[in-house]
Amino acid sequence: MGKKDIPSQQLDAWQGDFGDAYVERNAPVPEIMETRRGMWREILAPLSGDPPTSIFEVGANIGLNLRALGDLTDARLMAIEPNESARKRLIADDVLAADDIYDGVAQSIDLPDGAADMVFTSGVLIHISPADLGAACTEIYRVSNKYIACIEYFSDTPEEVRYRNQDGLLFKRDFGELWMNSFPTLSLVDYGFFWKRATGLDNLTWWVFRKNS
Ligand SMILES: C[S@@+](CC[C@H](N)C(=O)[O-])C[C@H]1O[C@@H](n2cnc3c(N)ncnc32)[C@H](O)[C@@H]1O
Repeated sequence: MGKKDIPSQQLDAWQGDFGDAYVERNAPVPEIMETRRGMWREILAPLSGDPPTSIFEVGANIGLNLRALGDLTDARLMAIEPNESARKRLIADDVLAADDIYDGVAQSIDLPDGAADMVFTSGVLIHISPADLGAACTEIYRVSNKYIACIEYFSDTPEEVRYRNQDGLLFKRDFGELWMNSFPTLSLVDYGFFWKRATGLDNLTWWVFRKNS
């Protein structure tokens, strides 16, 4: 099933003008890239004994994470992204080879089981409707060989928040609990919080899970 079979308000927005405007707003300027490298140094630190050799980002946009990861690791990098202008930027800027960027969505990933050592989302699960979240997590779990990382906005109880003056586009929750409750083979490797004031990132909660058989 391709993404065209998964109609949703969220996907219409991200594939259309709303998504194109996000691409235009974001740029890999040195200050932003330094904050992303700082974020990934912290997330990868607990994996230093057994680092991922391949990393797949779900919802990469222009690749701020992938660019940082390219500076920090030798892992093979791949991604899936539904917005065409973002995919074009990833190729034009040499962030990914054309064969390593897929047109698609988290809910239906056209890759085999265990395709990448680490699969992650950063600010993407929050933009998936609660109705589609189970399918997205099931696919991410399936294509992960070893680790799942998740960097998202946190809320104790699931809540919708208006995003850029629109309803239906941002949903916060305890994503760590969602992952661990949904997939009992996952064990927690580490988790943490990036405080906006100290890091220059948004207020983000992160988790890394290991997939055990
Ligand atoms: C807020 S941006 C985050 C971009 C990037 N992960 C980062 O941290 O800089 C959300 C991205 O997720 C993509 N996206 C939205 N819905 C998606 C879905 N269902 N599956 C995969 N990607 C999605 C959007 O097109 C957009 O590029």
